[in-house]
Amino acid sequence: MKPAEQSRREFCGQACRVAVAGVLGSALGACGGGGGSPTGPSGAPSLTTLSGTATASGIDLVIDTASPLASVGGAALVQSSRGSFLVSRTGESTFSVLTATCTHQACTINGFTGNRYVCPCHGSNFDTSGRVLQGPAVAALRTFAATFAGGTLAVAL
Ligand code: FES
Repeated sequence: MKPAEQSRREFCGQACRVAVAGVLGSALGACGGGGGSPTGPSGAPSLTTLSGTATASGIDLVIDTASPLASVGGAALVQSSRGSFLVSRTGESTFSVLTATCTHQACTINGFTGNRYVCPCHGSNFDTSGRVLQGPAVAALRTFAATFAGGTLAVAL
């Protein structure tokens, strides 16, 4: 092998290694995530978190004009001393309330995109009625009855 040919091969080999390292580096960087990103690992936007007030029969949630639940189609993660819940507004005075605890391995579901709740741990998707749209979860989310009056949603637990 001539010296010029050998150095060209060495150069190509080194260039390939640098290119592979660059691709891996950016792939790892993309997976690193974190740092206050508004989306979870699933890529779904995170729900706004609201605070509910525990009552003797469940939780109360005030819904004012600034709430993400003020308009039909809105959704939020509601936290309270009685647990975390996924709430979506399905009509002018109707809401769906689901447990936010994933039926797969109990992560708190906090993503919402295209009218689907998305679990950040392994990507299970649920519709706003709690049905599984995509696994690994196989069981539906538990639902709770709720009534809306005077700007307050009362969830019965
Ligand atoms: S805990 Fe929700 S998908 Fe695994």
